[in-house]
Amino acid sequence: MDKADIKIEGAMVCDGTGAPLFKADVAIVDDRIQAVGDLSAQPAGSVIAGEGLVLAPGFIDVHTHDDRAVLSDPGHACKVSQGVTTVVTGNCGISLAPLSVPDDKRPAPPLDLIAPTGAQLFDGFGDYLAALDDAPPAVNVLPQIGHSTLRLAAMSDLQRTASETELSTMLSLLEDSLAAGAAGFSTGLFYRPAEHASTEEVIALVKAVGAAGAFHSTHMRDEGDFVIDSIDETARIGHDGGAPVVISHHKCTGEGNHGRSSETLARIDHYRVRQPMALDAYPYEAGSTVLDSARLEGARKILVSWSEARPDCAGRDLDDLAAEFGMSRSETAKMLSPAGGIFFMMDEDDVRRILAHPSTMIGSDGLPHDARPHPRLWGTFPRVLGHYSRDVGLFSLEKAVRKMTGLPAARFGLIDRGAIRPGAFADLVLFDAASIIDSATYENPMEPAAGIELVMVNGRVVWRDGVSTGARSGRAIRLKDIKPQNVPDAA
Ligand code: ZN
Ligand code: CU
Repeated sequence: MDKADIKIEGAMVCDGTGAPLFKADVAIVDDRIQAVGDLSAQPAGSVIAGEGLVLAPGFIDVHTHDDRAVLSDPGHACKVSQGVTTVVTGNCGISLAPLSVPDDKRPAPPLDLIAPTGAQLFDGFGDYLAALDDAPPAVNVLPQIGHSTLRLAAMSDLQRTASETELSTMLSLLEDSLAAGAAGFSTGLFYRPAEHASTEEVIALVKAVGAAGAFHSTHMRDEGDFVIDSIDETARIGHDGGAPVVISHHKCTGEGNHGRSSETLARIDHYRVRQPMALDAYPYEAGSTVLDSARLEGARKILVSWSEARPDCAGRDLDDLAAEFGMSRSETAKMLSPAGGIFFMMDEDDVRRILAHPSTMIGSDGLPHDARPHPRLWGTFPRVLGHYSRDVGLFSLEKAVRKMTGLPAARFGLIDRGAIRPGAFADLVLFDAASIIDSATYENPMEPAAGIELVMVNGRVVWRDGVSTGARSGRAIRLKDIKPQNVPDAA
């Protein structure tokens, strides 16, 4: 047998398909897995001891806002420390390209979550991809283009649906971006820059997405009282637009909607056997986004995650601040703005039911530029494995790993990723199943998780023994490199 560059010996392999663990050695040559099995006779440049550990495909974070973080913090410890090797960016309708805003101007929320000034934006999607190629991060990046970004680029007034001329401007920007390599198109109809877009406007754009062989993901118009209408609208957009759709961070918000995940999942099941539809979730009862003083209902508690006006208020409870200032919740939010919040608005039973659904993938939705981020940024994947799988027993380790590897790789058509088999890319994570757990909390949100021993991206070790190795072996994955699943799930 040819000499391997690296050999991982004696780990329990969790191959990403959901199949039971099995003990094997794994040999790596260049950026690929060369062999899996009893490789005791095979020579290797270096050997990594896997005894007593689980070796899984690197985790795929299907819902991120890491667009700028992968450039500004290429070591990307918040994700690599969890075993994540690929991030899908450009979610919730916001991407850094194609848009230009003066350097001293603040882009409209929620785009300011990833671009606090115009200086962070890129005129063309190809420019963004070129920046990734020039300075690759430690993780692979699958980039989407955001609908709200297109609206900001093409429309003079966002308080209405796009005119014919604006729609054709958006279409040509979208087509150029897809041609440059954007892999998907995201919408954030919940948010102010897109809430006045008609379903027809979105369908017209998604038609171009489907024709290009890309995918659509959506932060739906409503995740509360009208969540079923939103699922219906999402299905219509996917069906009429002819593109596979991912429902992002599925949840039922507001006390009156607690327990309704039985209903929403049944609705999604109804559609997903008729058209390609997928979903993702993060393992927490709180969400996080911009703090909008007119949108504070439905949350039993709100923590301030950052504030431009009052940076000292980050980490504080909004109600405590309101009491101190003698103001209402919304007056306080207005005073802190621009700002972000962490909103406790979900029911634990819904979180568990959604996570346990066989079609649910894992996406952190972490916000990497927040002063006091939601702990999901540093904790999502170890929390699913350590808390929900091992401690709560919600699903097996093999099923948990599939939700973060084989399942998303199939949905997004990430060729030769999300699997441990000869020929697959050597995106790997070695962890201790007995001790893996999230360490990030609401009080102390930027703590690396426990139990992650080693992380490899495209055959290079990027994280070992709790620290970055400095390797930046991630790649920008373009539309031409993927083949998204464009058929319904079997009934
Ligand atoms: Zn969102
Ligand atoms: Cu998001």
